[in-house]
Amino acid sequence: MYRLTAPCLFGLEKTLSFEIKRAGGTNIAMKDGRAFFDGDESVIAKMNITSSAAERVQIVLGEFNAFDFDGIFEGAKNAPIEEFAGREDAFPVAKGHSLNSKITSIPAIQRTIKKALAERMKEKHRAESLPESKNTLPVHFLLQKNIMLLTLDTTGPSLHKRGYRSRSGEAPIRETLAAGMVDLAHVRSSDVICDPFCGSGTILIEAAMKQLNVAPGMNRSFIASRWDCFHKEIWEREFREAKERVKNENIALYGFDKDGDAVKLAEENAWKAGVNKHIKFLKREIKDFKYPETSVKIITNPPYAQRMLTEEEADGIYRVMGKRMLPLGKNSLFVITSRESFPEIFGKNADKERKLYNGMLKCRFYSYFGERPEKAYDDPAKK
Ligand SMILES: C[S@@+](CC[C@H](N)C(=O)[O-])C[C@H]1O[C@@H](n2cnc3c(N)ncnc32)[C@H](O)[C@@H]1O
Repeated sequence: MYRLTAPCLFGLEKTLSFEIKRAGGTNIAMKDGRAFFDGDESVIAKMNITSSAAERVQIVLGEFNAFDFDGIFEGAKNAPIEEFAGREDAFPVAKGHSLNSKITSIPAIQRTIKKALAERMKEKHRAESLPESKNTLPVHFLLQKNIMLLTLDTTGPSLHKRGYRSRSGEAPIRETLAAGMVDLAHVRSSDVICDPFCGSGTILIEAAMKQLNVAPGMNRSFIASRWDCFHKEIWEREFREAKERVKNENIALYGFDKDGDAVKLAEENAWKAGVNKHIKFLKREIKDFKYPETSVKIITNPPYAQRMLTEEEADGIYRVMGKRMLPLGKNSLFVITSRESFPEIFGKNADKERKLYNGMLKCRFYSYFGERPEKAYDDPAKK
């Protein structure tokens, strides 16, 4: 059993906690956009392969007070790196942040941790020199309020990199956030999904993957699967089982965008993700929006005057959305925007509203539920 940790975007903690339980993780504690949990190697593999919300999965090497460099050195020297890294393995202190702490210099912290870990590796492996020429075990750190969290990264390139989006459009949404929106919209495989501002298609691709039970990390690799301290057969089994869980269902999704290049890119990305046959993409402006079927779940991130358009232009788009989409009837709408005036301009208050972060940008996720489909009349005379 290892103590593990996984960061996520603020607002996706509940989704992440559910995914950890599903992967067999225990003793879960959530803290500011990060989960801590216990798990063995198969939990590490499962979380990397199946989590839609985690940004990466890390093994906790130590957590200690770090008010000065001596504290950092001593704490890092107690981290059992040799249990994972063999004598010839590389252990770069690859990534780190310092937040609200006395020590702020990232390169100086990196050097101190590296020195302490190298001393420990030499002692524990009884080695005079460390060639660092075999596998790579990246060490990450987070110094927050003078407390150091030292971890070993099992993921490699961040988990939002599913492998289907090599090129992205003008203001793409991160895959983990798109998947979180799909989760908050309670997408089922019977739902018809539409994104009228689909850009590079991320929300629709994540929705289709969820509907077909395609694990987000199923088609990529992870750095820890190559480590000698782990078992290749465990990773192979988890990949195989994820592939066996994929459903073969008929699903329907629609993506519109006014930009023809974005539509082409979305088609390309959907093809790479293997879900293109389920999604119909069309070049269409919001002023021409029509519900593509009778009961549709719209999940979207329209422009919100951060990376594209002015506030007036964004508000103009929200006004048109209201005109084309209201009344909702049997359709429902889930929209993320940083513009708090959205409901007023759209013309309807949301049934539910929650905070969700797009990177560091505080946004709101508005849920509008349409009329529930009427229950079939159950004639007691026929019983
Ligand atoms: C924030 S981006 C969506 C990004 C998308 N979720 C992705 O992951 O790539 C907004 C999109 O709205 C499109 N757009 C802007 N104005 C529009 C309009 N009037 N009608 C339809 N699409 C519009 C832009 O071309 C852009 O692709």
